[in-house]
Amino acid sequence: MYFILLIILQIITTSIAEEPNILISTPQRIASFNYPVESHEVKTADNYLLTMFRIPYSPKNLHLNDSKPRPVFLIQHGMSTSTDSFILNGPDNALAYVLADAGYDVWMGNHRGNVYSRKHIKLSPDESDFWKFSWHELGIFDMPAMIDYVLGKTNQDQLHFIGHSQGATVFFVLLSELPKYNAKFKTSFMLAPIAFVGHIKSPIGFIASSVLHQSPILSHLLEGLEFLPMIEPVSMLGSELCAVGSWFQWVCAGLLFILGGWDSEHLNYTLLPQAIETHPAGCSTGQAIHYLQEHKSGYFRKFDHGKQNNLRFYGQITPPDYNISNIITPVRVYYSDNDKMAPVVDVKKIEKLLPNLVESYNVPVKTWTHVDFVFALEVKELIYDKIIETANYYEKTGQQLK
Ligand SMILES: *[C@@H]1O[C@H](CO)[C@@H](O)[C@H](O)[C@H]1NC(C)=O
Ligand SMILES: *[C@@H]1O[C@H](CO)[C@@H](O)[C@H](O)[C@H]1NC(C)=O
Ligand SMILES: *[C@@H]1O[C@H](CO)[C@@H](O)[C@H](O)[C@H]1NC(C)=O
Repeated sequence: MYFILLIILQIITTSIAEEPNILISTPQRIASFNYPVESHEVKTADNYLLTMFRIPYSPKNLHLNDSKPRPVFLIQHGMSTSTDSFILNGPDNALAYVLADAGYDVWMGNHRGNVYSRKHIKLSPDESDFWKFSWHELGIFDMPAMIDYVLGKTNQDQLHFIGHSQGATVFFVLLSELPKYNAKFKTSFMLAPIAFVGHIKSPIGFIASSVLHQSPILSHLLEGLEFLPMIEPVSMLGSELCAVGSWFQWVCAGLLFILGGWDSEHLNYTLLPQAIETHPAGCSTGQAIHYLQEHKSGYFRKFDHGKQNNLRFYGQITPPDYNISNIITPVRVYYSDNDKMAPVVDVKKIEKLLPNLVESYNVPVKTWTHVDFVFALEVKELIYDKIIETANYYEKTGQQLK
């Protein structure tokens, strides 16, 4: 409870602060453990500048340099978090190090709007236009830009992918909308994937029902969107709602993270100060609203702009569903019974629709929560070692491990 209060305090402070400041950045932390680290800037088709971090190799296995180039893993964080979620757990447990130690070239993306990716060719994060996006844009703009960049830099055709939470949402959006990217994945692991959110049990449900369904204020703001001119596909939110420091931003930035479950018994609580230092890492209100819309509707579909504008943008009064049958690359899903953000019933719903689900792994620990997939003490043994075995098998045989 005490920790949750601390985090809430942090969120409030962050929402007041003008610029989020990270005391120690992802590359600084990585370097402090004597791992090599690189920063890369990637431009999206809609002109955001994203920062990617890379651990090109592990100092523990330099001998692998002598053979072929290291295969690539791209790993993508959840909402309101950042690349820090893949390194805070330290060299023995955190995903980025574990993959590097296993001989992979590890690339970590930071989505637009988080603390490492607050840049755009023209817009500044002080302008509300900067914040006009939901996870739809992360899927159709950030993902292709990062994938193309990584494959170009490494001179490879395909990569392995891990998405945590919203990191899975953006993978589903990408492949539903741009199916040619199916061919770019060797293996893909969805950890605690979010797509359908009808059964989220955490207080997000409470927020959705009390705020989105009933609050005249938010409903009014959302209604107001119908009148917004839609020049680019990304403009969707009222400036009042998106303004940096607006009351809703801390909801977006912080609550989902808390609700994910920092009360887990599997966490190393000595990491908490570092977690607080690096979170919430920032996102747009549009991401939260898009999930809230789905919580209400029960669909996995595009952003709801209101009847009028939906008709204009989509040619129908309700937003179209994401076409999950386009996701033909082999997909692996890892989920847990105690995950309030990705409850089993919602995970099963997307699994049933995936045309090429090759693995569905229910973490055999009943108390496993949403954040345990990145922050738990036993996460390496339970999950990452299994991922590595699967990826290694693919590298050796060119086949999916069944
Ligand atoms: C391994 O590769 C990295 C990156 O190319 C390079 O900096 C490093 O010196 C290499 N190490 C060895 C032992 O060749
Ligand atoms: C918990 O994290 C601290 C700080 O990173 C680390 O020194 C300690 O070894 C970790 N505890 C366990 C059980 O891994
Ligand atoms: C969805 O994708 C499948 C497979 O690519 C296609 O056959 C189907 O027509 C699409 N459905 C819609 C509604 O676009």
